[in-house]
Amino acid sequence: MAAQAKTFYALLLASLQLLITSHVSLAAGGKWTLLLSNVGISAMHMQLLRNDRVVMFDRTNFGPSNISLPNGNCRNNPQDAVSKIDCTAHSIEYDVASNTVRPLTVQSNTWCSSGSVRPDGVLVQTGGDRDGELKARIFSPCNNNKCDWVEINNGLTKRRWYSSNHILPDGKQIVIGGQGQFNYEFYPKTTSPNVIALPFLAETNDRGQENNLYPYVFLNTDGNLFIFANNRAILLDYVKNTVVKTYPAIPGGDPRSYPSTGSAVLLPLKNLEAVKIDAEVLVCGGAPKGSYILAFRRNTFVKALDTCARIKINDENPQWTVEKMPRARVMGDMTLLPNGDVLIVNGGSSGSAAWELGREPVFVPDLYHPENPVNSRFESLNPSTIPRMYHSTAILLRDGRVLVGGSNPHGFYNFTGVLFPTELSLEAFSPVYLEPEFAKLRPKIVSPKSQTTITYRKTMKLKFKVVGEVKGPVKVTMVFPSFTTHSFSMNQRLLVLDNVKFKRSKSTNYEVQVRTPRSAFVAPPGYYMMFVVNDNIPSEGIWVRLR
Ligand SMILES: *[C@@H]1O[C@H](CO)[C@@H](O)[C@H](O)[C@H]1NC(C)=O
Ligand SMILES: *[C@@H]1O[C@H](CO)[C@@H](O)[C@H](O)[C@H]1NC(C)=O
Repeated sequence: MAAQAKTFYALLLASLQLLITSHVSLAAGGKWTLLLSNVGISAMHMQLLRNDRVVMFDRTNFGPSNISLPNGNCRNNPQDAVSKIDCTAHSIEYDVASNTVRPLTVQSNTWCSSGSVRPDGVLVQTGGDRDGELKARIFSPCNNNKCDWVEINNGLTKRRWYSSNHILPDGKQIVIGGQGQFNYEFYPKTTSPNVIALPFLAETNDRGQENNLYPYVFLNTDGNLFIFANNRAILLDYVKNTVVKTYPAIPGGDPRSYPSTGSAVLLPLKNLEAVKIDAEVLVCGGAPKGSYILAFRRNTFVKALDTCARIKINDENPQWTVEKMPRARVMGDMTLLPNGDVLIVNGGSSGSAAWELGREPVFVPDLYHPENPVNSRFESLNPSTIPRMYHSTAILLRDGRVLVGGSNPHGFYNFTGVLFPTELSLEAFSPVYLEPEFAKLRPKIVSPKSQTTITYRKTMKLKFKVVGEVKGPVKVTMVFPSFTTHSFSMNQRLLVLDNVKFKRSKSTNYEVQVRTPRSAFVAPPGYYMMFVVNDNIPSEGIWVRLR
């Protein structure tokens, strides 16, 4: 009897839990759309450009892709493990408006490389493997389908593989670390030798397990660089090469950078006129210390980290606050949305980054609301159906959707007979704010026109329309488009501009006046997407050039 009753109650409990779970999934929002099932390559690296085209590439020495090079061209490729003559492309341009792709010609190996967009909107990408390790590659956006990669030999001083780049206030970029490189350099090169030692990267190298690759680098509002590797960070004055601040390790001490790959963002910067801006960094997920070795040597896939750590990087005595995520995640991608929320997608819940080492794909996107109180910041959204493991990517588009692609945990293009086959598909995740029920709240920017140039320290006027209710002074945000690879979005930056004036001019017409950023420390020069946000619902963005 007692056993039966127990079973009955267990069943009842289980069905109640089922009810609750299904209720939660009903309440979740957001929508996944398959954009293209086959773009020909696996989108390991992505960069949105000012003409709403996205440059993507994988690597050049692992066999033919599924898209031919332009004009019937072929490349001699002695370093290829599959075919020494390769007539396929390993880079493409995706046009958001037409949802089409065009093959591009990249000659040298871009595998695990890095990049930044220059202030003039030109993509500068650096490094890679073997014949690509010292290369710089330039891509100038065009609308006539004629532009292609231009490669520069010895663009770099040191070989750079798994490095991170950041655009600097003077428009140059810094290239930091990489395998075996405990130093940084600049592109274009500055004075010789153009290589400056960074012992922090040796200190965080975990005795050959690394955990310090693709460091999380953010330009702080004081002009210094916040550099996170493994489980801790420094603030670097890269001009004088001095460490101006050393941050504590994240409590628990587990690593968060490659191959214990978590992800990180500089949270939205606001109150930009303050003497000291409250810049905060959020690092989420990763893998416990030793996960990579256990997965690699013993086929043991350790549960990923289920925490985020957040820190005010300009505090006198900065401390990490640890928060629980709804689930464990390694190789997640963190994307800043135009309203200041952070979307976390992709990855797995056990194992590690690197080939074949991730398990248990995470399909559910988790949304983080930075302004909510601790413990009420996460919201889980509708799941996708495609595993996006190692070598997957996610970036924000100007229309507010998030472009999601890639996933290739294999050393080749392997489509069958493997766990998590090479993914050639592209999806878009539409956050809840794009749902039709919010159409009335969505602002439509009337002026300025897209591609307008703005300058520092000015008052700027935006005119927009909203059909429905406008809740008080709207927010105006600016987002720098990131170079995304290996779960890190380099240069990702969102500014909430200070409001000066807000008024309604006619029934559905409004005007807001905001202050443009005060300096290139706060906002490095370049093309940004600018949004008006009403009650958390962002407009479609416009491109503005800050100079
Ligand atoms: C791409 O794959 C399809 C089959 O899925 C095949 O028919 C086509 O020939 C491939 N294209 C290239 C360029 O490899
Ligand atoms: C993966 O692809 C490579 C190159 O095409 C091939 O040699 C290898 O056998 C494939 N691996 C599996 C497990 O199918």
